[in-house]
Amino acid sequence: MEASRPYDLVLFGGTGFTGGLTAEYLAKHAPSDLRWALAGRNPQKLEALRERLQGLADDAGQLELLQADMTDPASLKRVAESARVVVTTVGPYALHGEPLVAACAEAGTDYCDLTGEPEFVDRMWNLHHERATETGARLVHCCGFDSIPHDLGAYFTVQQLPEGVPLKVEGFVRANAEFSGGTFHSAVNAFGRARQTAAEGKRRRAKEPRLEGRKVRSVKAGIRRVSAMGGYAIPLPTVDPQIVKRSARALERYGPDFSYGHYVFAKKAQTVVTLPLGVGTLFALAQLKPTRDLLLKTKGAGDGPSEARRLKSWFKVRFVGEGGGERVVTEVRGGDPGYDETARMLAESGLCLALDDLPETAGQVTTAQAMGDALLKRLQDSGMAFEVLESA
Ligand SMILES: NC(=O)c1ccc[n+]([C@@H]2O[C@H](COP(=O)([O-])OP(=O)(O)OC[C@H]3O[C@@H](n4cnc5c(N)ncnc54)[C@H](OP(=O)(O)O)[C@@H]3O)[C@@H](O)[C@H]2O)c1
Repeated sequence: MEASRPYDLVLFGGTGFTGGLTAEYLAKHAPSDLRWALAGRNPQKLEALRERLQGLADDAGQLELLQADMTDPASLKRVAESARVVVTTVGPYALHGEPLVAACAEAGTDYCDLTGEPEFVDRMWNLHHERATETGARLVHCCGFDSIPHDLGAYFTVQQLPEGVPLKVEGFVRANAEFSGGTFHSAVNAFGRARQTAAEGKRRRAKEPRLEGRKVRSVKAGIRRVSAMGGYAIPLPTVDPQIVKRSARALERYGPDFSYGHYVFAKKAQTVVTLPLGVGTLFALAQLKPTRDLLLKTKGAGDGPSEARRLKSWFKVRFVGEGGGERVVTEVRGGDPGYDETARMLAESGLCLALDDLPETAGQVTTAQAMGDALLKRLQDSGMAFEVLESA
């Protein structure tokens, strides 16, 4: 990648809720010699964002503003060709994201985003993985709460277990938080596209090379009581277990036969009924356009939880790993998962791609595969906990 490009990193979507928090994180924590810029479609909003950042970092007033729109491929080409890394929070990604991935794949520019939409991830693999592999672009999706705590948490857990033996890891997620309009819109939109999601996944599986000589599988388990943790595990079929298993496919360290299970952990028995019922109702309402439109009106894009609410929010992901006669329990912990921690994870991913010495990878890659140890260290240094609780 030419160091001659004008910017080390361009942030796209800083005028939105999560993008604004990511811009603030970069203004506070990026090294002073990082050459970065803000991209967006609305010059007045970009100007207002730059002014806001000036209160956080003296030199933020010099940030350049790049006008670009997801509906204007020429503007995206200019952004992609001007940067070494593009970080984007423009979502829902299934609706707006593809043209920027295309531009980055073509320009050989590293890319990271916050999508949690499996359809989008698979469609980007189907359309752009091959070209990105040729140009050397690293396309890293899911750099927020989806899926970094789970992907790097499983990676961290595997590192505590013996090498070269079958390993089983299960992740149990707990959180107390509110979500933004953008996240709600992405979730409703994804629920309404179940058919397209299945079709993209099928196309990907038909093209993706088979794993030779090793196995990567799902732990097959239904809702169950986990006495050792004093609660219930409810299977969580988000993008996260897919990402963990892709990292396991890519990295030999996960052993000859790796299996992973992913769950919400609930203390109260009633959640076993109310959670699937709530998600099922949302899913059903998202299937038809009139009810979907009504749902989308209940939370506006650009809205998000207040700072006071975010300060009270938290998440914990407990991992139980077994293999070669050993057992380990680890935990990844942090504050507000969806926004403050997500902004930190996305910004650190962008900085890691731009600045760190990383393994050679290209095409669509996971966070563990592309950035593994370097990103883990960045997140630990910045205050996120990755801890071994028990080892035997
Ligand atoms: N996976 C996770 O852990 C996680 C956590 C948080 C958020 N997210 C995802 O991140 C995304 C953003 O969430 P948010 O709450 O920040 O949403 P938001 O506040 O609605 O922000 C959306 C951003 O996209 C921009 N945008 C929309 N259409 C555009 C276009 N055609 N061209 C250029 N820019 C365009 C908006 O620009 P304007 O300001 O000009 O309208 C705004 O900057 C969502 O997809 C959400 O699901 C994921």
